[in-house]
Amino acid sequence: VRGGYLNKLADLLYEHRDILASIESLDNGKAIQLARGDVDLVIRYIRSCAGWADKVTGSVVETGRDHFTYVRREPLGVCGQIIPWNFPLLMWSWKIGPALATGNTLVLKTAESTPLSALYASKLVKEAGFPAGVYNVVSGFGKITGEAIATHQKIKKVAFTGSTATGRHIMKAAAESNLKKVTLELGGKSPNIIFDDADVKKTVQNLVLGIFYNSGEVCCAGSRIYVQEGIYDEIIREFKAAAETLKVGNPFDEEVFQGAQTSQQQLDKILGYVDIGKKEGATLVTGGERLGETGYFVKPTIFADVKEDMRIVKEEIFGPVVTVSKFSTKEEAIKLANDSEYGLAAGIHTTNVNTAHDVAAQVRAGTVWVNTYNDFHPMVPFGGYGQSGIGREMGVEALENYTQYKAVRMGITI
Ligand code: NAI
Ligand code: MG
Repeated sequence: VRGGYLNKLADLLYEHRDILASIESLDNGKAIQLARGDVDLVIRYIRSCAGWADKVTGSVVETGRDHFTYVRREPLGVCGQIIPWNFPLLMWSWKIGPALATGNTLVLKTAESTPLSALYASKLVKEAGFPAGVYNVVSGFGKITGEAIATHQKIKKVAFTGSTATGRHIMKAAAESNLKKVTLELGGKSPNIIFDDADVKKTVQNLVLGIFYNSGEVCCAGSRIYVQEGIYDEIIREFKAAAETLKVGNPFDEEVFQGAQTSQQQLDKILGYVDIGKKEGATLVTGGERLGETGYFVKPTIFADVKEDMRIVKEEIFGPVVTVSKFSTKEEAIKLANDSEYGLAAGIHTTNVNTAHDVAAQVRAGTVWVNTYNDFHPMVPFGGYGQSGIGREMGVEALENYTQYKAVRMGITI
């Protein structure tokens, strides 16, 4: 039954895909071509969850003739879900899909600046026929509505995506209220490593995708680029050219790749970091300013020759601003990549299969992309090492966060 509702929901999302993508662009500022990509991923993921609904099984544990022992897998109850504004509908799907597939009920809170797509999709949830009370959505401020979820005595779990600071706060609130289970998808400062033997054309496309995709408002953005010395000048030259020809502007223009930043607050934060980078003495290769007088547009920005202790290398900017520096050996690249409190993702660009596997094994990140970037699949788990979070979304792993095990041990008289 649950699978049926979720499949019906996926059908309805598909039917309404154009309006959902338009709402997402309008509300968030992201380019329409990217919004369509988000909606496609949403539909695929809800369908994937529909498929899970009748495949969450328990087990029998063999403990001898005098006992019959089995393990049931049960839902948690009411799940609180708090989502951010950078991928409003995609984060909605990552939250509600596994919760509903495993038989929980939920209360989801949208982000202040981008409530519209989830509210529209909520209408479709109703139409799909889920029983009343199973799915609940609220829009409100983090400090009021979000806080009410995190501290609630009857909510058994909270799933959160957003800043590390708020994640830390939610974990504390969960601990101090009823010890609700907590999963967190937080910030990042992901390294993108390029070796001398990389395919330059493909790599540059992935660098662009890594940092300018979704206007840089991506938790796993490849925001720290490390290039091996032999290819450094060529990469800088080609990457600069690609950044300067990237179409930035009106999100509803079909040709535009990078739309607007989501809010004045984000625009100010990004431009603030650009100033910091200039003051810290990084070389501004391109960009470094607002595009136009109106709207929240930022030119794709590349800082080169950065030092590890600079704030622009350490802190999450969450905009189209990237740092580039040089390394000589593989060991050095790994050390630089791992020099972060975060650990959400990493990129590796090489044509050497040995280098790829070796570096993938040694970088501390929840996702490693090799010769690709920002590349998602409903069956592939996503989540963070270190201060990038707790728990995984998507894949079979997501179901772990929404079920608990009950061991039943029965004595048998023999
Ligand atoms: P935030 O983490 O404060 O907001 C995300 C969500 O949490 C929103 O729904 C918000 O209403 C809610 N929230 C805020 N305070 C809360 C509280 N006390 N209790 C419960 N819920 C609360 O992020 P914000 O302030 O919008 O953005 C600040 C920075 O965070 C960004 O510049 C970016 O660096 C980072 N960020 C990272 C995201 C990611 O995907 N990892 C997403 C959004 C922001
Ligand atoms: Mg905040």
